[in-house]
Amino acid sequence: MTDAKAPHVSVLLREVLEILSPKDGGVYVDGTFGAGGYSRAILEAADCIVYGIDRDPVAISFGEEMAREFAGRLVMLEGCYADMEELLAAKGVASVDGIALDIGVSSMQIDEAARGFSFMRDGPLDMRMSGQGRTAAEVVNEESEAELARIIFVYGEEQRSRAIARVVAERREHAPFTRTVELAEAVASVVRPTGRGVHPATRTFQALRIFVNDELGQLVKGLAASERLLTPGGRLAVVSFHSLEDRRVKNFLSARSEGRARPSRHVPVTDEGPAPSFKLIKRGTIKARSDELAVNPRSRSARLRGAVRTAAPAWTEAA
Ligand SMILES: C[S@@+](CC[C@H](N)C(=O)[O-])C[C@H]1O[C@@H](n2cnc3c(N)ncnc32)[C@H](O)[C@@H]1O
Repeated sequence: MTDAKAPHVSVLLREVLEILSPKDGGVYVDGTFGAGGYSRAILEAADCIVYGIDRDPVAISFGEEMAREFAGRLVMLEGCYADMEELLAAKGVASVDGIALDIGVSSMQIDEAARGFSFMRDGPLDMRMSGQGRTAAEVVNEESEAELARIIFVYGEEQRSRAIARVVAERREHAPFTRTVELAEAVASVVRPTGRGVHPATRTFQALRIFVNDELGQLVKGLAASERLLTPGGRLAVVSFHSLEDRRVKNFLSARSEGRARPSRHVPVTDEGPAPSFKLIKRGTIKARSDELAVNPRSRSARLRGAVRTAAPAWTEAA
């Protein structure tokens, strides 16, 4: 199969830019640089500095090329956005005016068979964005059947998780899984297609990708780090692609904009929480408009939430 590498088309770009409202002299973080679509838009909107973070070395090399166009205004940082405080501190930056997070994988990552994210393209069962840590093959071959069922159920919201774990456990007795299509076929042997064109392995692949890259842990830590880094009036824009992520963003921002959730697990829940550290830009999510939906199918499931940092201190613990 050939690799058709379509360039990544930024999702909800206009809307993210409206939330960030870049200003001259401002300092911005693009925590999920990818193909740099958000960074470019921010840099073109104001005479500001952008720190572009990505855990994928390929995205970093791409960004370093792009940085030449912006004469010192785009600085690339390789690492996880959950660690953005440390990454920025190494550059002497302790506070910023805006942070954008566009959670998940880029089309370049999905389309590159060798990265192992796609059940449509045969490749090594890898799925690591950074190239570090355990591969999806190691997880599939080493975890117990019960743990695999849990991962697929929790992170893929897959009702057939136990049947999938069983067939995986049976087949790996004969030979370990090494390729994406082997896993996709095993899943398809016990999950019926929905009839809406969704591949039976979609949810299982999503689950493994989220688990391998600790995507939900990254999100929770990244939101808390954003709260500490943003100056009063600083702006946060978060785009997510499924309910597991959006729920975490929603819970974080609702608690912190209402000031009602428990500030710490050692303090009982009361109506009087700490002062709100964020003000929502809009209640609920912002979705792609029809013109974007028409040209970028990936935007269909995208959900954007935005908030402005208040002057209140950051809360002490993730709510
Ligand atoms: C959806 S793409 C971002 C696209 C980007 N907004 C654009 O316009 O080109 C997500 C990118 O975030 C990176 N990424 C995902 N999780 C990350 C994390 N926890 N830390 C750093 N980068 C991450 C991925 O490697 C990928 O390049």
